[in-house]
Amino acid sequence: MEKTVLHMELGENSYDITVERGALDKVSEYMKLSRKVLIVTDSGVPREYPEKVAKQCKEPYIVTIPEGESSKSFESYKEILSVMCEKEFTRTDCVVAVGGGVCGDLAGFCAASYMRGIDFYNIPTTVLSQVDSSIGGKTAIDFGGYKNIVGAFHQPKGVVIDNNVLATLPERRIADGLSEALKMAATYDKELFELFERSTREEIFGETIDRIIIGSLKIKKDVVEQDEKETGLRKILNFGHTVAHALESCGDFSGYFHGECVAIGMLPMCEGTVRERIKTQLLKIGLPTKPFGDKSRILSAIAHDKKLAGTTLSAVYAPEIGRYEIRKVDLAEYRKEISDYFEKEDMTV
Ligand code: GLY
Repeated sequence: MEKTVLHMELGENSYDITVERGALDKVSEYMKLSRKVLIVTDSGVPREYPEKVAKQCKEPYIVTIPEGESSKSFESYKEILSVMCEKEFTRTDCVVAVGGGVCGDLAGFCAASYMRGIDFYNIPTTVLSQVDSSIGGKTAIDFGGYKNIVGAFHQPKGVVIDNNVLATLPERRIADGLSEALKMAATYDKELFELFERSTREEIFGETIDRIIIGSLKIKKDVVEQDEKETGLRKILNFGHTVAHALESCGDFSGYFHGECVAIGMLPMCEGTVRERIKTQLLKIGLPTKPFGDKSRILSAIAHDKKLAGTTLSAVYAPEIGRYEIRKVDLAEYRKEISDYFEKEDMTV
């Protein structure tokens, strides 16, 4: 696959997303690394990836956080800021994330808040972060049991995606990211969805993955360019996320991965053949489709959704494959709708 460069056009916050196999060896061509660089990575990322980046920096410092959602915490945030203070980072220095969504969200929030905002670059190493969280400027940590509840919009200066890193990614992690790709296809791009349908599992995990990643990036770019701060259209990227976040917070962010919860959360948001078509793809990829956990806790966790305004929720539905509908729904009615769905799905309580 040849190099693909997508330009995210956001006025003074514009940047390039470079997708190129082998790019990790030459990221300094795409990022300004001739300064102090705080590289944030996690313990699950092969050490050679941050080290390859460090070799290309003038003055690198690597902080390695433990792998997993629990690192999106005040403790990790404080740890990174402490290093930046101790090493006397200034406004002209930068932060680079080399890892998955947790790494990117946390490192991005450090960059967004240190000295009121310094440069940030993202090198996502999981499919989930490549197709979704690494672009669009959402940064956050979890707090008080709620996901992404403290954060800021802070666009990266550049994103570099080297799909050679997928060779070391466990299949479950690849499937996790494909759930977000399928989410975007289901609400916005019928052709990308049909590519999933036409492809075997082996093709999706193999030769077709670059096309799926680039197709998803194009959707996300299109959506973010039209609605950077999520006042309207960008809400569609939350398809499946209201239930997913509730499942995650009730499971203390452990057990199921984010994309797996999104897979489960998409199904109540569509019906009939649309639900069947999405479910068929989820099962083919090896993603879960059945809700789990304590039903009443999950329903109550829905109240803490960031998409809630008063008692009204912007719920995203897929009335047809490739089409979305954002409906303002009353929280109590929405809970009833989800409760009925859980009942039908014979949820294990
Ligand atoms: N992951 C959803 C968004 O970036 O808006």
